[in-house]
Amino acid sequence: MSEKLDAKVLIVGGTGGIGRALAERYASLGSEVVITSRDAGKAASIAAEIGPNVRGIALDIAEPEGIAGMLADVGQIDRLLIVAIERDSNTVRNYDIAKARRAVTVKLVGYTEVVHAMLDRMSERASVVIFGGLAGERPYPGSTTVTMVNGAVRSMIKTMAVELAPIRFNAIHPGIIGDTPAWADKPEALAEVAARTPGGRLATTADVVDAVKFLFNNRGVNGVNLTIDGGWMLQ
Ligand SMILES: NC(=O)c1ccc[n+]([C@@H]2O[C@H](COP(=O)([O-])OP(=O)(O)OC[C@H]3O[C@@H](n4cnc5c(N)ncnc54)[C@H](OP(=O)(O)O)[C@@H]3O)[C@@H](O)[C@H]2O)c1
Repeated sequence: MSEKLDAKVLIVGGTGGIGRALAERYASLGSEVVITSRDAGKAASIAAEIGPNVRGIALDIAEPEGIAGMLADVGQIDRLLIVAIERDSNTVRNYDIAKARRAVTVKLVGYTEVVHAMLDRMSERASVVIFGGLAGERPYPGSTTVTMVNGAVRSMIKTMAVELAPIRFNAIHPGIIGDTPAWADKPEALAEVAARTPGGRLATTADVVDAVKFLFNNRGVNGVNLTIDGGWMLQ
């Protein structure tokens, strides 16, 4: 499907850095966009800021049993973006089971239930992009749960691409996206990553948005894990 102006897009986690940028991009193209937040008021106000063709709804994917009901009034969609994250640091030495369970639930059970709940409103030409990350390849102390979850996202898209064909499933694994709010107060960490990145340029939100467009539009791409990190993983 080319980048049609009449595409209908659902962005789960559309109020954050990357999700919001994606909503702005598709809204500017004339798509009908639904964004989600855990907070209905926040979803509505950010949707109104972005444009008249954007609608905001409440959705908490940490409580998967409620997902289908909260998505009930979302109509037919052509593109599904699952971006939501609850950030977490959890060491094995001081293991917090409740935090680990929540992180696993959001990205694994929650993401899968979103797909399950929306299946009856996705055509055969629909395309799904799911967000992981690079903690699997570049772990750090406290990343065990995130590392496991990101690894599972790599596998999740493959089984979904097979089981739910011909709908296509791909994943984006961003490196450190320095212009996202998540990194706004960590200039020293950003400088370290930039120093390790060939050419010293961190990947940006615009780079990620462009990569999503490629995964959505190119019908030959299916079950692919795409890293967007400016080459950080090379050294
Ligand atoms: N930024 C980076 O450098 C980076 C690096 C690696 C991977 N990633 C991945 O890229 C994606 C986007 O990252 P980001 O930095 O743009 O994220 P972000 O700014 O933290 O935004 C997170 C989004 O997830 C939503 N959310 C949080 N908890 C939720 C829940 N329980 N149920 C439903 N929605 C929930 C938030 O909505 P509300 O708060 O409004 O509820 C918000 O829209 C994530 O999957 C992240 O793992 C990002």
